[in-house]
Amino acid sequence: MKTLACVVGARPNFVKMAPVLAGLREMAPGVRPLLVHTGQHYDEAMSDRFFEQLGLPAPDVHLEVGSGRHGEQTARILERYESWLLEAAPRPDATLVVGDVNSTVACALASVKLGVPVIHVEAGLRSFDRTMPEEINRVLTDAISDLLLVSEPSGVENLKREGRPESAVRLVGNVMIDALTLQLQAARELHQPARLDVEPGGYAVWTLHRPSNVDDPAALEQSVKAMRRTAERLPVVFPVHPRTERALRAAGLEPALAGDPRVVMTEPLGYLEFLSLTCQARLIVTDSGGLQEESTALGIPCLTLRDTTERPITVEEGTSTLVGNNWTLFDRLVEDILERRYKKGQCPRLWDGRAGRRVAAEVAEFLG
Ligand code: UD1
Repeated sequence: MKTLACVVGARPNFVKMAPVLAGLREMAPGVRPLLVHTGQHYDEAMSDRFFEQLGLPAPDVHLEVGSGRHGEQTARILERYESWLLEAAPRPDATLVVGDVNSTVACALASVKLGVPVIHVEAGLRSFDRTMPEEINRVLTDAISDLLLVSEPSGVENLKREGRPESAVRLVGNVMIDALTLQLQAARELHQPARLDVEPGGYAVWTLHRPSNVDDPAALEQSVKAMRRTAERLPVVFPVHPRTERALRAAGLEPALAGDPRVVMTEPLGYLEFLSLTCQARLIVTDSGGLQEESTALGIPCLTLRDTTERPITVEEGTSTLVGNNWTLFDRLVEDILERRYKKGQCPRLWDGRAGRRVAAEVAEFLG
């Protein structure tokens, strides 16, 4: 029996790990996964609810690192994961990390320094914007990973360009879309739009949490204005990330939104509640990487409030357009979407609900 430490820390990690663990159960009976939660996200709404809804088992190990500055949080994870690896009996045969959050890079580094190989799921994505904390996490994690499992062809190209050996790179598809495929029916049956008093097919979903969009009050104000303009055309549902809530309050922008009857602000939603909402939206506006992919898989128009994306397939084949802070373009595209002139997009190859199984098959082969 081989032991595989599977690391999660933040919200999008939970969504990606559920299909990986399901795939391992089905395809890799000789691999025993141990689930490690770093505690990067810890609120009930940001963590526990995701475990329940995605059918994740309780973590075998909880490092309870909590929030902090980047260096501080990454260091705390690095230190605690290393200590756990040193004491674990037997020591895991590999560490599997997903995505691009601080937990991903910290556990990869602790692991590789102890000679425990690293498997990275969602490897190779590049925005080429090194001011993004996630880009640093992606580049560093891929540089020290032994097996690189990739969700879209651009990732394979990027890894090749960076000199990673071709024998370590596999295109397996998108595990986040496995979770979506599995949960879509249950999500529809929740009727989240009705719960929030909006008509299915007749509202926008808006999310915002990247430091570049929320930490600068002037940029945040522009988004809030655009949200209120959009709300004149159709109601906007806005689940607010804790970082964004704090920034709105600090910039004095909360009252304008709270006082707008066509903007429905909510707490961060659970996975099912959120999917129930996105799958019936007319329009999605976001700066989230995961949501760019989910809207492409759902065929829902997505206006992405970023200048770059590490997921170019969502623009080239999917339903996303990068609008950055070009609000003239944004307003025109909202109009196009409402007039049904916007591109249709298609779901990329290997985003087929079976990526977790392909990950598991590669992991089983890697561990021998
Ligand atoms: C992190 C990831 C980001 C991912 C996002 C998804 C990094 C560098 N960033 O960003 O890639 O898209 O998660 O949500 O890893 N907080 C709470 N409760 C929680 C967790 C956080 O209130 O359970 C608050 C804290 O005040 C914290 C802030 O949110 O300081 C930011 O959390 P953090 O994990 O540092 O970054 P995110 O912005 O969530």
